[in-house]
Amino acid sequence: MGLTGVLIDITSIQQYLFGSNRLKENLGGSYLVKSIYGKPLQAALDETAPGHGDVGMWSDAETFSGGVKIGYIGGGNALLLFQESEVAKKFCRAFSLQILVSAPGLRTVFAIAPFHEENFPGSMRELHQELARAKSREFPAVTVGRHGITAECPYTGEAVEARCSDPKSGRLISRSANVRLKTAPTSGGAFKKLVAEEAGDNYDVTDDLGSLGQPDERSYIAIVHIDGNRIGEKFRNCATLSETRILSLTLEQELEQAFRGVVRELAGKIGAKDLCKDNGFRFSPNGERTILPLRPIIIGGDDITFVCEGKLGLYLAERFIAGLKSFDACAGVAVVKSKYPFFRGYQLAEELCASAKAKAAGEGGSWLDFLISAGGAAGSLEEIRQSRYAGSEGPLVYAPYRLDTAGRDESISLLKDGISCFHKWPKNKMMALREELTGPKEGVKKFLDAAGLTLPGAKKFGDNGWDSGRTPFFDMIDLFDFYPKVLLKEVTQ
Ligand SMILES: Nc1ncnc2c1ncn2[C@@H]1O[C@H](COP(=O)(O)OP(=O)(O)OP(=O)(O)O)[C@@H](O)[C@H]1O
Ligand SMILES: [Mg+2]
Repeated sequence: MGLTGVLIDITSIQQYLFGSNRLKENLGGSYLVKSIYGKPLQAALDETAPGHGDVGMWSDAETFSGGVKIGYIGGGNALLLFQESEVAKKFCRAFSLQILVSAPGLRTVFAIAPFHEENFPGSMRELHQELARAKSREFPAVTVGRHGITAECPYTGEAVEARCSDPKSGRLISRSANVRLKTAPTSGGAFKKLVAEEAGDNYDVTDDLGSLGQPDERSYIAIVHIDGNRIGEKFRNCATLSETRILSLTLEQELEQAFRGVVRELAGKIGAKDLCKDNGFRFSPNGERTILPLRPIIIGGDDITFVCEGKLGLYLAERFIAGLKSFDACAGVAVVKSKYPFFRGYQLAEELCASAKAKAAGEGGSWLDFLISAGGAAGSLEEIRQSRYAGSEGPLVYAPYRLDTAGRDESISLLKDGISCFHKWPKNKMMALREELTGPKEGVKKFLDAAGLTLPGAKKFGDNGWDSGRTPFFDMIDLFDFYPKVLLKEVTQ
């Protein structure tokens, strides 16, 4: 019997999520992205393939019911197999409409092609090619068009609509902004439940970027983006649908478990007072509860984005990756002022992750790159680094660092051990060294000799801080205030 395969992909998730500077709206958007394969999918199937049953149970059985089988749902994708091609087409229409209504502004792409289960890899290849064609061919309108006389939504730039307003300011807004805002509390509920399960009743969650435990208004948050390495290849290597389903479910579970581990560990450190006022945190209380200085924005597929107090970004990224068992991943950590435009911060985190990936592509393993953006740095990561991190001897950035091999040249342990040693230096000397590193290496040597100091860590950087045109010491000094001393000794993996 000839089957028809339907592969659905959500595109431009990042623009949809981070188009607004308000965490609340980002969180609502994130929840909507996840939930379209819930109720809206169910409604479309109820309409076109009655008798299909509950979509939430798809992982329990790999069987047809009502003429359709859900192959898998994961990573923003869904694969459905239909016994009748006409039903497949009707389903695509019904599901697009459901998405337009429940998540306006979200872009989805559909591919439809004949499917042969006995030739699973070939059929998937065909669907992916069709998906790529559809992405380049179509640019569906997913929001109501603006006319000359409509007012502009202050958050999305789209047309404002009747009955859509921001409850806080009372201003009229677009429907896509409205739906996202309204969904935010639901997303908070899900995270709250997770925190209660992992950390007990002493902790609460926030959707306010200013309440992540920073000591004051001017302080920093970290935006962390982590993505699994070469996961697409793993999927392409699956010979059967069953293998694909297992891989998809395993990945999702592993990501969630790693995140739960991070929540447990963070709550443990706060509970044990390892992180407290004395080392620069001011955790906001909410009644009896402490607000956890961490908020996931999106977890799913092979990636995660979360925000946390600026001093926790690197540590939590390391711990998350240490919790992954079956695949390597790379992290980008952008430490920015709390009021820095969120989308820009996210873009930096993504660029940093891509920079770490470039290392992983050559050498394998899990890597991390970071940037601490003290001022309102503008431009791409490369531009920022070229303008602010160029010394006369070479680049002042040693990152990315490898997470899974202690003791190597580019291992994160080099960075952390170095910071530990700087804790034994007078701070003014450390800052003077930072200045010297921007100039000729002879100056560094002279400074060290005069001060009677030796550089921490690896001997190869010994007397002037440089080896083959690279230096890790500027990174260490930059990170000094952004890596709590008490956490430095934790084992990376
Ligand atoms: N749980 C999942 N179920 C199904 N598909 C998934 C799942 N997680 C990720 N994917 C798919 O895997 C692919 C991962 O894409 P990505 O851009 O991260 O490339 P990659 O192969 O991991 O390479 P890179 O190392 O550059 O990240 C996406 O196409 C995504 O849809
Ligand atoms: Mg990936």
